[in-house]
Amino acid sequence: REGPTRIPVVVHVVFNTASQNISDAQITSQIDVLNKDYRAQNTDIGQVPPVWKPRVADSRVEFELATKDPDGQPTDGITRTQTQTKKFNTQTDDVKSASTGGHDAWPADKYLNIWVCPQIFDPQDPTNEILGYAQFPGGPAETDGVVIGHRFFGTTGTAAAPFNLGRTATHEVGHWLNLRHIWGDDDGGCSGSDLVADTPNAGGPNFGTPTFPSVTCMNGPDGDMFVNYMDYTDDKGMVMFTRGQVDRMAATLDSFRSSFNG
Ligand code: ARG
Ligand code: ZN
Ligand code: CA
Repeated sequence: REGPTRIPVVVHVVFNTASQNISDAQITSQIDVLNKDYRAQNTDIGQVPPVWKPRVADSRVEFELATKDPDGQPTDGITRTQTQTKKFNTQTDDVKSASTGGHDAWPADKYLNIWVCPQIFDPQDPTNEILGYAQFPGGPAETDGVVIGHRFFGTTGTAAAPFNLGRTATHEVGHWLNLRHIWGDDDGGCSGSDLVADTPNAGGPNFGTPTFPSVTCMNGPDGDMFVNYMDYTDDKGMVMFTRGQVDRMAATLDSFRSSFNG
């Protein structure tokens, strides 16, 4: 890829109450965060511990609200749908279809679909509200994209601390570009891997606002890279992708998601 890759985005706002019908300003605040984070232009990048600064990387991925809809007609890149559903389901993907109280995806080879909805739950763990979830590359087009609860989307409007800096979308779009959690998803174990060489092997997710170093899996003295977008800290603590992660995203844009190049 020579220049930056620009990804047209459609935001499907699926709301039950009026306040969940988030403003255009809340949506554009999220697009702005994505553009800063994916170009390593976020103003909080200075929080990266000195030892990892050389690993910070610019993905050269950029995001813009779509200007044409699937029929070629002008659009603001936002759909708005009122629903009776208050809690959406990560297993059934009900938010992704009009027939189940959501909105259908736009063609996944041309748009990044982002659904913003009232609340998200995994039926396996029904007491735990989920900030967002993503579909990895290679899945069905009808469900491709990311889903985010409105209180965790953007930096204004209904966005609520400590998840009001737009990092849930940065994290979920990382999954959409094939990044895994930096601890390798074997919570508590040291054998899982994110398949990225320059993110230290880590035992499990970090939460809140950890202090450096957070040593697990004999990864001292520097410990877990909890400042990475693919960890689980509060929004203000996640500030970087690594070169290895950027290589993995680039490989995705050359394969599964090559329709966005060009
Ligand atoms: N639970 C979500 C996932 O695994 C994302 C968590 C995002 N964290 C944040 N600080 N916004 O995909
Ligand atoms: Zn995740
Ligand atoms: Ca790693």
